Amino acid sequence: MIAEQMNPAPEDNPATTTTRRPIIAIDGPAGAGKSTIARHIAQYFGLLNLETGAMYRAFALKALGENISLEDLPSLAALSTKTTIHLEPGEEGNRVFLDGVDVTGKLRDPAVTDGASRVSVHPQIRAWMVRLQQELGASGGVVMEGRDIGTVVFPHADVKIFLDAAPEVRGLRRYDQMGQTGTEVTVAAAEVVQEMHARDERDRNRIDSPLKPAEDAVLLDSTHLTLDEVVARAEEIVTEKIHLQARA
Ligand code: DC
Repeated sequence: MIAEQMNPAPEDNPATTTTRRPIIAIDGPAGAGKSTIARHIAQYFGLLNLETGAMYRAFALKALGENISLEDLPSLAALSTKTTIHLEPGEEGNRVFLDGVDVTGKLRDPAVTDGASRVSVHPQIRAWMVRLQQELGASGGVVMEGRDIGTVVFPHADVKIFLDAAPEVRGLRRYDQMGQTGTEVTVAAAEVVQEMHARDERDRNRIDSPLKPAEDAVLLDSTHLTLDEVVARAEEIVTEKIHLQARA
């Protein structure tokens, strides 16, 4: 019964009552729970989940591997013309292919995490990523998560959720997650909080497409909510928005 509730039949599925397959944008800072919520929402409504942060991470991995400075835009731009990044949605998150090779297991390394935030400040790199992401989501039926999905990649997304939480809470959640995913925890929780704070500052203050809620995004603050509560609220937001649109 639970499985039925989690996967409504197509005729009961609010996401399929619009004429075209919907695009759901979930943006927010690191550690707010975007990936978990996006995965749940994608499963619940029968949509594909695409993690755009993984694309920046894959590119950072390649640049680091080639010893290219993450501040050297001309070299990064040249590298981008020789790079293919492909996302394969799955139940446990996306598998990420860099030049045809599955690099999923390498993308949570702290150097790659920091590097992704650094390469993402460059407008030329962003323009390339945005184009790839628009192609991936063009036919709809997706939950796309990132920093600029509702503002830049799909400004006409059917549903926009901006998921946030207090920085300390996000840092501690990310720290806990590191243990769960088998990443060796060699740093103190305080360091994780601090690293997250630095990345946030960079993501929020970059000139091109800074992290901020779209004007028409629904803000969802998970600071004082359990995972189940956030999931329930996100489902509600999607259902309300898509019904509203179907009636318009
Ligand atoms: O969501 P994430 O932690 O995997 O993202 C890694 C970095 O990529 C993040 O610090 C900023 C950048 N990013 C971005 O600029 N725009 C996106 N749509 C997604 C991620």
